[in-house]
Amino acid sequence: MENEQTPPIQGSIGQTGAGVGMIGSKVEGALNEQMKKEFYSSYLYLSMAAHFESINLKGFANWMKIQANEETKHAMKIYNYTLERGGKVVFQRIDAPARQCQDSCIRRYTRPESNP
Ligand SMILES: [Fe+2]
Repeated sequence: MENEQTPPIQGSIGQTGAGVGMIGSKVEGALNEQMKKEFYSSYLYLSMAAHFESINLKGFANWMKIQANEETKHAMKIYNYTLERGGKVVFQRIDAPARQCQDSCIRRYTRPESNP
């Protein structure tokens, strides 16, 4: 079985003196911000899934749930990477998807002719 640990990435080592391969605070902050965005994307897809469920478009809902799971996987990759590198995972508030965004996203899938 292969060693599944992520090898150190040259040039990303923090200057904190806390240890070889440890990420710096700037990279750690960026990773946490991206993790939040990935979770937000999952949340947004899930909100669209709920809408499609409510109008009995089960196939569309299923596709949206698959996308939501994919975004959660992205977030978890960042979560794991941050911890592997000795960083701190910091959870931030995830905003509710804006209703306007949900509507426009749903329109894009259900009535593409209405989008320029
Ligand atoms: Fe993603």
